[in-house]
Amino acid sequence: MTQERRPIIAANWKMHKTHLEAIQAVQKLSYLLEKEDAERAEVVVCPPFTALRAVQTLIDADKLPYGLGAQNVHPEDHGAFTGEISAPMLAALKVRYVIVGHSERRQLFGEDDLFVNKKARAVFANGMTPIVCVGETLDEREAGGTESKVAQQIRRAFDNVAPEHAAKAVIAYEPIWAIGTGRNAEPADAGQVVALIRATLAERYDAALAQGVRVQYGGSVKPGNIRDFMAHPEIDGALVGGASLDAEEFALIVKYR
Ligand code: 13P
Repeated sequence: MTQERRPIIAANWKMHKTHLEAIQAVQKLSYLLEKEDAERAEVVVCPPFTALRAVQTLIDADKLPYGLGAQNVHPEDHGAFTGEISAPMLAALKVRYVIVGHSERRQLFGEDDLFVNKKARAVFANGMTPIVCVGETLDEREAGGTESKVAQQIRRAFDNVAPEHAAKAVIAYEPIWAIGTGRNAEPADAGQVVALIRATLAERYDAALAQGVRVQYGGSVKPGNIRDFMAHPEIDGALVGGASLDAEEFALIVKYR
């Protein structure tokens, strides 16, 4: 972790918590975290859509130093897309980050690289920051295909993304086999893939831009392993699923030292 890249630790609650439970969780988090914790690392909570407004109101009213994130977005600004939520709708809720290309969306909802790219561009166009998720399956890893898979996902996600936007992106390296399995990647292995992500960005843009982009690790991050990930110079934070549902566990992750 270099001086210039501020760590970013994000809670991806996935399809968990009603808006009432979300309020409780953020309130609890605010009691557990010190001001300095949220200064050292940027803390982001990504509740389901139905809780965004409630959490935004709480963050505003109590002036909590947390970023609000959404878990998904539709690429179009508006239109006949029943059940979808657009980037302007999220921006109006003061959403700062939007997760795009999560492997669950790719695997369970058939989202491909082109759709992920359109989503990322819509997020940038509306003044927000995508958290672009990439990662390989176990089969791809065992066949030695991790690097080509991840590099391709990065190249496609950033297709037609202007450098001034790309420079602000957050990327999450989430090996699919580590998500929700309790089996985390080795920090050194994850760091190597993160270095490859930066090399791919350096090829597409330039080395300075690549050095400035924050890259998180995601996949079975817990209070017991966060320190090892944060100690790796390439890794700038974490995208946390299961362990973020409990405010106490998530607070321990944010306080990782
Ligand atoms: P877990 O932390 O539950 O493995 O989930 C990781 C993840 O998918 C975060 O987006």
